[in-house]
Amino acid sequence: MRTPAIALFHSTFTVAPRVGASAPGRVNLIGEHTDYNGGPVLPMAVARRTTAVAGPAEPGVLEIVSATDGAVRRFLYKDDPGTGWGRYLVGVARELASRGVVPPGFGARVAIASDVPVGAGLASSAALTVAATRVLAALGDAELDPRTVADIAYHAEYDHVGVRCGRMDQTIAVLGRRAHALLFDCATLETAQIPFAGRLLLVDTRVRHELAASAFNDRRAQCEAALERLRTVRPELAWLAEWPATELPRLRRLLPEPLRRRALHVVGETARTRLAARELRGRRLRAFGRLMYQSHDSCRRLYECSAPELDLVVRAARKAGAWGARMTGAGWGGAALVLVDAKREARTAEAIRRAFVRAFGGEPGITPIVSGPGARRERI
Ligand code: GLA
Repeated sequence: MRTPAIALFHSTFTVAPRVGASAPGRVNLIGEHTDYNGGPVLPMAVARRTTAVAGPAEPGVLEIVSATDGAVRRFLYKDDPGTGWGRYLVGVARELASRGVVPPGFGARVAIASDVPVGAGLASSAALTVAATRVLAALGDAELDPRTVADIAYHAEYDHVGVRCGRMDQTIAVLGRRAHALLFDCATLETAQIPFAGRLLLVDTRVRHELAASAFNDRRAQCEAALERLRTVRPELAWLAEWPATELPRLRRLLPEPLRRRALHVVGETARTRLAARELRGRRLRAFGRLMYQSHDSCRRLYECSAPELDLVVRAARKAGAWGARMTGAGWGGAALVLVDAKREARTAEAIRRAFVRAFGGEPGITPIVSGPGARRERI
């Protein structure tokens, strides 16, 4: 994506870009809707990336163009919040300016090229904000440590765009490593790289969600309401994910529906993700896969963030003998992950495809998942 981004910059602004950077999309192997509840997540960076190249512009101006539509958008970013995907870039520019990473009145032209599909559950927005943070910091001659890059990208999305996301996507986009999953404890911010040698298929249902407009923010509010009620008996509780898995009967008594179901998911998924990390460390992929199925079931029944298309893929995968399968990312559409026995990969993919076409008519997109490295500077 480096060459298309450079070519786009040239053809749009008729000068060469000065700096470049890129960041990957991700799949989340397990630990869904736990990040903003202070639980663990286990994502892996994929080979699909977003590349941003940049050069200077007039003071206070952000001029952006994407290979998707080639339209140039221009924002006076201090006052103008931007529109569409431009809001993410305005968010990054404002964060960098308010932290003094770039000088006051900083202006930039940015061209973006990406092969991370939007709305497929691969965290395309974090790939965009992390690539933008790296490239704009580079344009301002600033060196940022990885945690700061993730933090700036997170605040761009959370504060400026208004998506109440957690920190998983930005963190994996920065710290991702080829053939490794990242165990990230969202309460302590501790991380550990765990080798991942499984074969995974990505099944894109092609059902698209608009994250900000979806039930995501509602779910987050429900989790906050559940935490507040649980604090009446345990005032020291900092996060919902801290509730002990051994005290589920008590949690059930304390919470009304739907808060009860949401909290049961978060506490169960937290325990499952810790166990899954242990199975992965021990290279027990079949046991890991069983936890993926359980996670999907919990997302479907308790968190109610699945979709009929995702449920069908998971059922078909199980029937075809896959070791595990689950939705990945926020849900309500997007893609499912299928952990397969390498010897049965083609047969499993075909069985899922046929079941999907029979049920919904359209073809799903089925591709093997290739892992990739985290964010990096790109040569210009
Ligand atoms: C989206 C958010 C993440 C996380 C997942 C659900 O991808 O951006 O922070 O909450 O949903 O696990």
